[in-house]
Amino acid sequence: MHGFFDTIVDRRGTDSLKWDKLKERYGDADLLPFWVADMDFRVMPQLAEAIAARAAHPSYGYSFASKEYYQNFIDWNSARNQYDILREEILSVPGVVCASAFIIHALVSPGGKVMFCSPVYTPFYSVTKEQGRQVVTSSLRINNGRYEMDWADIEAKLAGGVELLILSNPHNPIGRVWSREELKKLGDLCLRYGVIVFSDDIHSDLIMPGSTYTPLPVLSEAIKNNTVLAMAPSKTFNIAGLNSSYLVIANPTLRKKVHKALQSFHLDINLFGLKAAEAAYGAGAQWVGELTDYLLKNAQTVVRFCAEHLPRVKTFVPEGTYLMWLDFSDYRLPQAALMQKLQAEAKVALNDGSHYGPEGIGFARLNIGTSREMLLQGLAQIASAFASVN
Ligand SMILES: Cc1ncc(COP(=O)(O)O)c(C=O)c1O
Repeated sequence: MHGFFDTIVDRRGTDSLKWDKLKERYGDADLLPFWVADMDFRVMPQLAEAIAARAAHPSYGYSFASKEYYQNFIDWNSARNQYDILREEILSVPGVVCASAFIIHALVSPGGKVMFCSPVYTPFYSVTKEQGRQVVTSSLRINNGRYEMDWADIEAKLAGGVELLILSNPHNPIGRVWSREELKKLGDLCLRYGVIVFSDDIHSDLIMPGSTYTPLPVLSEAIKNNTVLAMAPSKTFNIAGLNSSYLVIANPTLRKKVHKALQSFHLDINLFGLKAAEAAYGAGAQWVGELTDYLLKNAQTVVRFCAEHLPRVKTFVPEGTYLMWLDFSDYRLPQAALMQKLQAEAKVALNDGSHYGPEGIGFARLNIGTSREMLLQGLAQIASAFASVN
């Protein structure tokens, strides 16, 4: 049966970063794109209707976030995550990366240390450096095919003067949804060493059936008061182009500091971004359920395909996100040659694993937020390109 998610839209010619910048980014406009983290599906119909309805009213002047914009987000979190948020804890921000810059600026002293577990989303590195702060990383360890935190290393580094820990929950690119136990341990360690946590939970609605997401602040009052949390409808509902994200900061002192930094640049959210967030959290629960069911089947398809046709590529079904982490290290290709082979021979655009940290050498990131048909086509092209490698 051909369902909603089997029919992707032709995004070429829509100024889409993923599709229309292939020539500029990868040197070839004809690649199948499995890179930047957005999806090829149509948006949820109620969301498109909300935008169209607002666009139909010919007045686009200064606007503010409606009561429903806040309430739908609060209700979403309380129903899905048993996470109770107060209206005054919420700040609106254009994006999570943009917010991370403000947060670092507001909460870390110049030249201070910011830590995260790697491999991880590339802007964690760049934003920290752009803000003139030091990057400290702790490598995740693979244990029985599953990434885990290295507790001894984390504790030693936190004790060494780190001011802010950035958490990716779920973790891009390795797809872990951190467990309650892991989060409690990490949250308590940060409290012990006086390290504030910025929890980037942008992928937290994209949880594979069978996994459970826990927002860090539900674990204790002390942890809640030590956490700045980011969420957004951008990944979940595929509206990254609308630049509309949320910060939740329960601690008034931290909130004031971040708010002051935000205000100093006078950033506002676009009115369509506000409307989209309101509609997404108001009507999106069922759609997200169907989306994650589809994504799970996509991930299982990749794992099965690799087992049958690319047995030297190791991969696993992620617990969250629509990003898969493919281990090509068995081919022993230098990283540039691996990426070149994927591009020039397989004709696919994946993200270079080494961009997430040195732990990613030998890996590539595959975005499965597309139709199963396009995914299978890309996999077949990869299999035929690698068939001749010794
Ligand atoms: C962990 C993580 N944070 C932030 C972002 C991007 O956030 P934004 O577009 O809101 O800046 C991404 C996008 O892939 C991501 O994976």
